[in-house]
Amino acid sequence: MSVSLADLDVEKFALVTGGTGYIGSHTVVALIEAGYQVVIIDNLDNSSEIVLSGIERITGRVPHFVHADLRDADAVIKIFKEYPIASVVHLAGLKSVGESIHSPSKYYDNNIGATLNLVKAMQTAEVTTLVFSSSATVYSSSSEPPLGEDAKKLPTNPYGMSKYIIEQVLTDMALANRKWRFGILRYFNPIGAHPSGRIGETPSGIPNNLMPYLMQVAIGKLAKLSIYGGDYETPDGTCIRDYVHVVDLARGHLAALRFLEEANGVHDWNLGTGKGTSVLELVKAVEQVIEKPIPSEIIGRRKGDMPVVFADVTKASNELSWRAEHTIEKMCVDHWNWQKRNPGWYQ
Ligand SMILES: NC(=O)c1ccc[n+]([C@@H]2O[C@H](COP(=O)([O-])OP(=O)(O)OC[C@H]3O[C@@H](n4cnc5c(N)ncnc54)[C@H](O)[C@@H]3O)[C@@H](O)[C@H]2O)c1
Repeated sequence: MSVSLADLDVEKFALVTGGTGYIGSHTVVALIEAGYQVVIIDNLDNSSEIVLSGIERITGRVPHFVHADLRDADAVIKIFKEYPIASVVHLAGLKSVGESIHSPSKYYDNNIGATLNLVKAMQTAEVTTLVFSSSATVYSSSSEPPLGEDAKKLPTNPYGMSKYIIEQVLTDMALANRKWRFGILRYFNPIGAHPSGRIGETPSGIPNNLMPYLMQVAIGKLAKLSIYGGDYETPDGTCIRDYVHVVDLARGHLAALRFLEEANGVHDWNLGTGKGTSVLELVKAVEQVIEKPIPSEIIGRRKGDMPVVFADVTKASNELSWRAEHTIEKMCVDHWNWQKRNPGWYQ
């Protein structure tokens, strides 16, 4: 069902950048289910318009969609003129740590350039509320887990640095003008998919992250999983991360928007479960769901990998009343359900 602009509750009209992407699409669903009207801007660099029909199947609503690049200043200004946008959730960005090391200028140009255009257009349109997708990669590798929001920040790659610079831009803007309402969400390791299996993560090429890689081994697209390092000082020798269900993460954006209705300034929250899961534990959880073994081998450590990373989620719990609800098992069930239904990149 498409909605005419005249029917809209202006207070609840949100622009979602990167809204056809993995986390963006789940966030759009959460917003629509909470009564928001949504317009998505996405350049489809890492997603497809097919996602819109998945969102429609789940919510019964088709979000407005603008196919444009956020670095196109005129296109961004035009969106704010055409839609009665009251708040922005900014997820659009490039996200591969490895690619960012080889192509740093691409990451700084895309992630920072896009954000600057966006906040300039917001300023012109007098839209003051923005929730930004940051990442646990901004934290220093010398910070001890659990990582609280005040832990030292020192990104070790251009991707993380681009996120950190954007956080600084937003902080400086909020210091310069009290009208701004910024929420910085630092995601830990999002996995899983919508339980309907209609939206999920669709990495192009060889996946960079553990869960999508595991899934492609599970469907036989990749032969085996290489585990980087089995001799870390962890109970089973493999790295520990804080996996969080993407549906829980999506709810976090809603909680942040609600918080910003009552508060100006800049605020930051970690979104994770607060619990660590090792590589071998995740492999085992997936094996139980798919009911067969995952071929794997332990190889050498990967440069830059921290042995243990997990969040202190107290601040999100206290300020947003947000807490991750899904277990690792549920994350694996939902991710597998999506993977089985969608074995390839969007055709
Ligand atoms: N997935 C993770 O593990 C993870 C962890 C921490 C933070 N994040 C951040 O969360 C956000 C969303 O991540 P995701 O996993 O959904 O990634 P994704 O690639 O699935 O989604 C990002 C979307 O942004 C779009 N996009 C990129 N540059 C754009 C531009 N200049 N103009 C318009 N659209 C553009 C892409 O086409 C894509 O649809 C990203 O900013 C990412 O850095 C992701």
